[in-house]
Amino acid sequence: MTNKEQINKRRIFGIISHPDAGKTTLTEKLLLHGGAIREAGSVRARKNSKYAKSDWMEIEKQRGISVTSSVMQFEYNDKVISIMDTPGHNDFGEDTYRILTSVDSAVMVIDAAKGIEAQTKKLFQVCSMRGIPIFTFINKLDRHGMDPLDLTQELEDVLGLPSVAVTWPIGAGKEFEGVYDRLNNTVYLFRKKLEIKLDDDGVHSTKLDGILNPGNLEVLRDAMDLLDGAGNEFNIEEIKKGKLSPVFFGSALADFGVTEFLNHFLSMSPPPTTRKTTTGVVTPTDDVFTGFIFKIQANMNPNHRDRLAFMRICSGTFTRGMNVTLARTGKQMKLSQSTHLMANERETVDIAYAGDVIGIYDTGNFQIGDTLMEGKEIINFEPLPTFPPELFSRVSAKNSLKGKNFQKGVEQLAQEGAIQVYKNQYNEVILGAVGVLQFEVFEYRLVNEYNTEIRMENIDFTVARWVKTKDSDSLKKYQNSRCMLVFDHYERPVLLFTNQYALRSFQDRYEDIELVEALNVNDVIVE
Ligand code: G4P
Repeated sequence: MTNKEQINKRRIFGIISHPDAGKTTLTEKLLLHGGAIREAGSVRARKNSKYAKSDWMEIEKQRGISVTSSVMQFEYNDKVISIMDTPGHNDFGEDTYRILTSVDSAVMVIDAAKGIEAQTKKLFQVCSMRGIPIFTFINKLDRHGMDPLDLTQELEDVLGLPSVAVTWPIGAGKEFEGVYDRLNNTVYLFRKKLEIKLDDDGVHSTKLDGILNPGNLEVLRDAMDLLDGAGNEFNIEEIKKGKLSPVFFGSALADFGVTEFLNHFLSMSPPPTTRKTTTGVVTPTDDVFTGFIFKIQANMNPNHRDRLAFMRICSGTFTRGMNVTLARTGKQMKLSQSTHLMANERETVDIAYAGDVIGIYDTGNFQIGDTLMEGKEIINFEPLPTFPPELFSRVSAKNSLKGKNFQKGVEQLAQEGAIQVYKNQYNEVILGAVGVLQFEVFEYRLVNEYNTEIRMENIDFTVARWVKTKDSDSLKKYQNSRCMLVFDHYERPVLLFTNQYALRSFQDRYEDIELVEALNVNDVIVE
């Protein structure tokens, strides 16, 4: 098989959702269809494993590298599909965001009874910023939920995302009979295990009379008349740009509508595409191997400092043992220990293509966002975005004699991207995170890897905004109990606010101060 054929077979996506919408259940069903797991329940078993909250070792042991950060790869209908696991629940953190910088499309799972929830909205924004296609799977139709029309309207109203329904539910709750596939003009009835190809009359076809529950049929016909008349038209170009979301309905738990979703997803989602560098673009079919590191995971064994770096391959072919150059330092290195991260196990990978994600053992050489490539000509992929933290803690070493270790630990964990580090005007260290687990891991690792007990105190700020100014000293005067000035890793000034209200009143009062949500790192560099 040619390199191009290998690349075109590949699909890599992340599932975004609010906790409990059904991401784990859907992942499991997709893996089952692909034959990657034999039993339903294996993904769930991992998710449910309880862990001692502050014990990083335990977290790692039980959830494991192959759990919190795994890529689940499987083959289905001649495609090689990688699902990037995006941690949710307690382990939601910056990693969750960064993983989305490595995928080519996203599947947004929504609970039909709840509509769009907070975490979905945040993760959606990251995907939308990248302009990747977003597929919507509205789940739990086996229970009564919101009206399907209201759910699709919500995508537009809350997320500003126009949508086009590809499948539509027939009934809900106990009366959920199946879905109508608008593109294939076919009704799939799950309980009756029937597939009915309709004629030109679509859902008005007499073929459905006497087959569907009459109430369901009437509602379906009305909804289709409405969508055909006033809904968005199917447009694959808009879908590929992330400007139109194809919507699917079903029940992950009952495995209703999942196959229909998967088949359409595979035909509509893009294979690996070009990626921007600071000077141009890299195309997957380019001969020269390139890749970038989007996640670094500490080793679960504190006696071994090595770590696992996750690399998305962007072009060329990876072969185990190859020599590459690390763009940041110009250093040559041999990639001899590389693994595939599968649903249930890890295995050594000897060859991989653009669109694959592999794990590389790292002894401290890599940083998040690093570019690796073959040959001497240095290229750099665009920097990964910085995400605005929402939780902050003031932190110091309990024993001042350990100051050096403390600084070193802080520096290295910041580099690794485990947490964001700021300093206030008194040179105190302020940590910023998007999930509480990041603080727990930070503390555990300082104690275990840097032999430093720390004092950590949550501070009451929830919003960070970078400030575009050349004169950061002038910002000191705005500080009060609801606003604090800090400096990030690159000495850029950041204002922390207690809440959105404090931010808004600041903006109203000082209209000429430009505040940016540091979603794109290029936006906040002070000239
Ligand atoms: P998450 O990864 O997005 O957090 O969600 P997860 O799949 O764990 O699902 C959360 C809960 O919703 C689970 O119930 C799961 O069984 C249920 N669920 C998922 N999909 C569907 C669906 O299509 N229909 C219905 N009715 N329920 C669904 P739980 O009670 O928390 O866990 P469990 O006792 O079932 O393991």
